[in-house]
Amino acid sequence: MIFDKKEEKLVHYTYDSQISHKRHLDVLKQDYLKTYASTIKYEKSSEDFDLVRIIGVGSYGTVFLVRDKTSFAYHAMKAIEKAQVIKKKNTKQLYQEKKILQSITFPFLITLDFCCKDNSYIYLILPFEAGGELFTLIRRMKNLSEPLAQFYTAQIVLALEYLHHCSIVHRDIKPENIMINESGYIKLGDFGFGKPIKSRTWTICGTPEYIAPEIILSKGYTYTVDWWSLGILIYEMIAGYPPFYHSDTMKLYEKILNGIYKTPDYMTPTCKSLIRHLLDVDPTKRYGSLKAGVYDIKSHVWFSEYNWAMILHQKVYPPFVPICRNPGDSSNFPEMGEMKLKKSPVCLFEKDFENF
Ligand SMILES: Nc1ncnc2c1ncn2[C@@H]1O[C@H](COP(=O)(O)OP(=O)(O)OP(=O)(O)O)[C@@H](O)[C@H]1O
Ligand SMILES: [Mg+2]
Repeated sequence: MIFDKKEEKLVHYTYDSQISHKRHLDVLKQDYLKTYASTIKYEKSSEDFDLVRIIGVGSYGTVFLVRDKTSFAYHAMKAIEKAQVIKKKNTKQLYQEKKILQSITFPFLITLDFCCKDNSYIYLILPFEAGGELFTLIRRMKNLSEPLAQFYTAQIVLALEYLHHCSIVHRDIKPENIMINESGYIKLGDFGFGKPIKSRTWTICGTPEYIAPEIILSKGYTYTVDWWSLGILIYEMIAGYPPFYHSDTMKLYEKILNGIYKTPDYMTPTCKSLIRHLLDVDPTKRYGSLKAGVYDIKSHVWFSEYNWAMILHQKVYPPFVPICRNPGDSSNFPEMGEMKLKKSPVCLFEKDFENF
C-alpha cells in the first residue's frame, strides 16, 4: 500500500501509475486513429473458409466457427445479411462496427482478422475465442466468486478506459458480449452499437437490463453509459441475476430510473460500495465520469490488492481456465442447430455496401 498525496488515501494504485498508463494509451490512440483513417483491403473471400458449426445467433448476424482452407486456422465468422441491414437502416452502424474492429488493438478486445462480402452477406472474420461466453459461465456456475468477478471486471475496466481514450463508446456491455479465451483471460466484442463520439449522442440502444438511466431519459449521453453497464455486470456476475428486472420493459425502465436495488448478503461491503458508485442514477456523480476519471475505479478499495500492470500484461494466473481440448474445440458453446447461408445469383445492394 502507498499513501497517495494527491488523493489523500491509502491505495495500491497510485496517481503516478495512472499518469504513466495514460501515456501508454496516448500511443495506442495514435495507432488507432492512423488505422481508422486508412483503407485496408483483405485478400480473403468467404470461399476460403469451411463452415464447421453455428456458435452464436445475434440480432443482426449468425456467427459460425470456420476453418481456413489453407492455414487450417479457426476463426469466428459473423455473417450479416445485407437485406436485413438495409431493412433495419443499419448500413452506417455496420460500417462503424467494421472500422472500429479493424482499428482497435488492446489485449482484452476482439479485433478483426478479415472482412469480405458476397452477393448476399457481409462477413466479419474474427479470432475464435474458444472458452465461450461469460454469460454461459455465469449460468453454469449460478454466480461467480468475487475474486473471479474482480478478475473479469479489471479487464473490462482497462478495455473501457482504452476505448473511451480513443473516443469510442461501446453501449452494449453485457455477459453475452464477453468471450473467454483459451487462457482464461477475456475479450470484449460486439461493436454493433459502438460509436466514435465527439460530444453527446442520443440514440436509444443497448440491452434493456443494462441500459443507463440517461439513455432512457433521451437527454443525450456520453461514455458514462458504459460505466453504468459495468456496475450491472459486476452485480450480475456475483449475484447471478441483474439488479433491475421486470418482464415488462416499461416497468423495468421505471426501476432503473428509480435506481433502487437490493444486494445479496454475501456480497462484500467493498464490492457493494463500488457497485453503488457505478449505479448512480446521476451520470455526473457516477464513478468513471468524475474529475479523476477511471482512477476512481482503479483505486477503489475493492481493487486494493490489484496490480493493474500485471493484469494488463496478463501475468496474473486466471482463477478459471476453460477446458479447450484443441484450437477448434467448440464444446463451450451450446448447440444452436443448423442454418444454411442464402445464395443469390446477383449481387444484392452492391452500391450500399461498396465501402466494405
Ligand atoms: N470471436 C468470437 N469467438 C467466439 N464466439 C464468438 C465470437 N464473436 C461472437 N461470438 C459468438 O456469437 C455471438 C453473437 O455475436 P455478436 O454479439 O457479435 O453478434 P450480434 O448479432 O451483434 O449480437 P446481439 O445483437 O444479439 O448482441 C456472441 O454472443 C458469441 O456467442
Ligand atoms: Mg452480441
